[in-house]
Amino acid sequence: MSKGKILLVGFGPGAEAHMSIRALQAIEESDVVIGYSTYIKLVKNLLGGKEVIRKGMTEEIDRCIEAYEQAQLGKTVALISSGDIGVYGMAGPTYEVLLKSGWKPDSDIEVEIVPGSTALSACASLVGAPLTHDFCSISLSDLLTPWPTIAKRIDAAGRSDFVVALYNPKSGRRTQQIVEAQRILLQYRKPDTPVAIVKSAYREAENIQMVHLDEMKDCKIGMLTTVLIGNSSTYMDQGLMITPRGYANKYKDITGDALEGEKRGRSLNMGLEGWKSCVREFLRSSDKHSLRDVALHFDSATGDIISAISEAKATDELDDNAGEYSAAQVQHDPLNVIEASKHWGLLRAVVRSEAGAVAELMIQAENFVMRRDWLNIENEHVHLHINWPRVKQVWFVRRADKLYSVHFTDERNETVFNLSLVRTDGEYDTSALKAYKQDWQTLTTLNELEKVSNE
Ligand SMILES: C[S@@+](CC[C@H](N)C(=O)[O-])C[C@H]1O[C@@H](n2cnc3c(N)ncnc32)[C@H](O)[C@@H]1O
Repeated sequence: MSKGKILLVGFGPGAEAHMSIRALQAIEESDVVIGYSTYIKLVKNLLGGKEVIRKGMTEEIDRCIEAYEQAQLGKTVALISSGDIGVYGMAGPTYEVLLKSGWKPDSDIEVEIVPGSTALSACASLVGAPLTHDFCSISLSDLLTPWPTIAKRIDAAGRSDFVVALYNPKSGRRTQQIVEAQRILLQYRKPDTPVAIVKSAYREAENIQMVHLDEMKDCKIGMLTTVLIGNSSTYMDQGLMITPRGYANKYKDITGDALEGEKRGRSLNMGLEGWKSCVREFLRSSDKHSLRDVALHFDSATGDIISAISEAKATDELDDNAGEYSAAQVQHDPLNVIEASKHWGLLRAVVRSEAGAVAELMIQAENFVMRRDWLNIENEHVHLHINWPRVKQVWFVRRADKLYSVHFTDERNETVFNLSLVRTDGEYDTSALKAYKQDWQTLTTLNELEKVSNE
């Protein structure tokens, strides 16, 4: 008996002209074609003389099992899917079925995946160039994915300014997911952000609506629609939706000279290294900024700003200091800092809750009590609980003579809480300040040790 073969074929958006040559060949060389009935209809002209097995939408695993059984009989089987079969397609479930059944890549049945043009690129091609910068795809189908996971992904995409392609945006029963998606994205995007709603791209019933984000939920959207939502730079011109490649950040015009300070072929001034020196330049340019002002200005976590400060290279040749600020990361267990703070006298503790509340308290370090995972601030007036495992880094941060502090940051570099020394009658307590400076030296890096001891 001849060896069986499973061809997992993505046939693109629908029109034959948009199928790859290999996809056409794969269907041509197969004995059996298996697919969802709508897909079978789309490729009906290619099926002459073949055994055709149509399955319903919910019978995905049945399609995989059928393909495996037919291949075990020595047949060449094409399991077909629209778009790319590996994008929300049958490639995953087929491999899962095969592997669970003991199939191995070097066994008798060969498996080949034939890639295809996925809906997001097909739809994008009809509306301009919306995907020319970073984008992500999110399926709004909560049939197999819990809604909180989907909502978190939409939120992350919105927060990170990705262009977003929504697959499975709405069905007869799932009508509210698109409403929620709009609500979440409007927290980060302007109401007039361009949105393309593309139905049945490259099929007979093709339909395109170009709208704004605040209109999206009221548009006609169904199971055969993909929704493309622009990022903060996406614009509409002449009916086309365009997301710039980002050249505007670097070149005077698309083919022109690099802007001042930018170099062809190099990371932008605001690339990873560049933006840190921008932070320091910003701090040098004015002595009015608090750490929080700077974090808001750069839309970054406070810990990222502190990290940029800590990398200041102030030498005679290089003027790269951070204005009045200096910072250094603690290289020891953060609890050592809590212990050390017992010698820093009266402290101002600023504690932020995730929901946005800010507590500002005058405390003594003796008020710290560790209770299991919680670092508590306990005295006769307050009981405040800090989720200690959230603390991942600690930074000493100084601003000339105006601020002597430590910042405790989480894994996202956001400040969990900070402590700073308090002046009485305009003066710092001499022994408290001496202890703080000494602790900076012993608990942080050598670099900063030099900076502080040079006082
Ligand atoms: C289960 S997913 C399949 C995705 C497919 N494997 C792909 O790569 O395009 C089904 C979703 O794909 C999108 N889709 C597939 N074909 C489309 C087309 N021709 N026009 C617009 N959207 C399409 C729709 O969002 C639909 O709800």
